[in-house]
Amino acid sequence: MKPILIGLVFVLLFVNCDKHKPKNNIIKTDVTNTKEHPGKKLMEVHCYSCHHPTADEDNRLAPPMIAIKMRYVNDSTTKKEFIADMQNWIKNPVESNVKMYGAVKRFGIMGNLPYPERVIEQIADYMFDNDIEQPEWFQDHFNQNKGNMRQN
Ligand code: HEC
Repeated sequence: MKPILIGLVFVLLFVNCDKHKPKNNIIKTDVTNTKEHPGKKLMEVHCYSCHHPTADEDNRLAPPMIAIKMRYVNDSTTKKEFIADMQNWIKNPVESNVKMYGAVKRFGIMGNLPYPERVIEQIADYMFDNDIEQPEWFQDHFNQNKGNMRQN
């Protein structure tokens, strides 16, 4: 009985390590920047139900994606860091990982949504490299809240 158990533990360890492997391949598997980046569609399908760019300010379920990009990306953020931050958030959407305190206060914390790493990688890759559609009210709102949003 025991050898089987030990064998099982090894198998589990192995499987677990394997799960983390794709992280190292993030750069290598970068998709080229074509007009129809696969991440665009993925973002629309998986994230826009809550993070829609044009839902009006009073009827939203979550901040628009542009707000997330502006909060997560500054002049020194690399694409690799951004992708890692997004993966980290999706895997652990908990208070200690929150960067958008105002959004949590207003909308409640984002639920735990089990998106595959590959999907998030594509979405983040797209977000980093492209201008994201923004609501009309966003620029004003952003200017008003710049101070709060940029606080680390
Ligand atoms: C069911 C609604 C819903 C869906 C679907 C959703 N989100 Fe969110 N998300 C929220 C809410 C609400 C917030 C604001 C509260 C918060 O920050 O936790 C949020 C916040 C975030 C934040 C900021 C977290 C922080 O506070 O630092 C990121 C990053 C994010 N979402 C990424 C995504 C991505 C990427 C997708 C699609 C793959 C997605 N979300 C899909 C509801 C959703």
